[in-house]
Amino acid sequence: MKKILIINGPNLNLLGKREPEIYGNVSFEDFLIELRQKFPNIDISYYQTNHEGNIIDKLQEAADSFEAVVLNAAAYTHTSIAISDTLKILKIPVVEVHISDISQREEYRKFSFVSDHAALVIMGEGLAGYTKAISYLSKL
Ligand code: DQA
Repeated sequence: MKKILIINGPNLNLLGKREPEIYGNVSFEDFLIELRQKFPNIDISYYQTNHEGNIIDKLQEAADSFEAVVLNAAAYTHTSIAISDTLKILKIPVVEVHISDISQREEYRKFSFVSDHAALVIMGEGLAGYTKAISYLSKL
């Protein structure tokens, strides 16, 4: 069975409660139940952290245990050269997901340190963006 790891960065533990007008009112844990039901042939693991270094540790480990990663680095997307360096040497495909459309928000959200290393970038589709990412990776 194909193993895919979803990594969510800072403040995404508050999905459902945080700025629902931007991020919706469904928690990631509830969404994950649906997502796993939609892809019974994929082993979907989930990791959320508020800490930059933890994202890096998890990405470094991921190549040994997973076939692909879905990454929403949240605010670190726009700041982290360290995550960008890790992605550059990662040997498995990464899909970058953003719930909101970062190209249509504040100026400081428009640049992503992740995109250069992503096989696909999905933004502005809400949680459905993760479904699209898994669907794409399942076909690789
Ligand atoms: C986000 C967009 C980021 O700019 C923001 O810092 C987040 C979430 C999104 O999923 O839309 O925390 O990555």
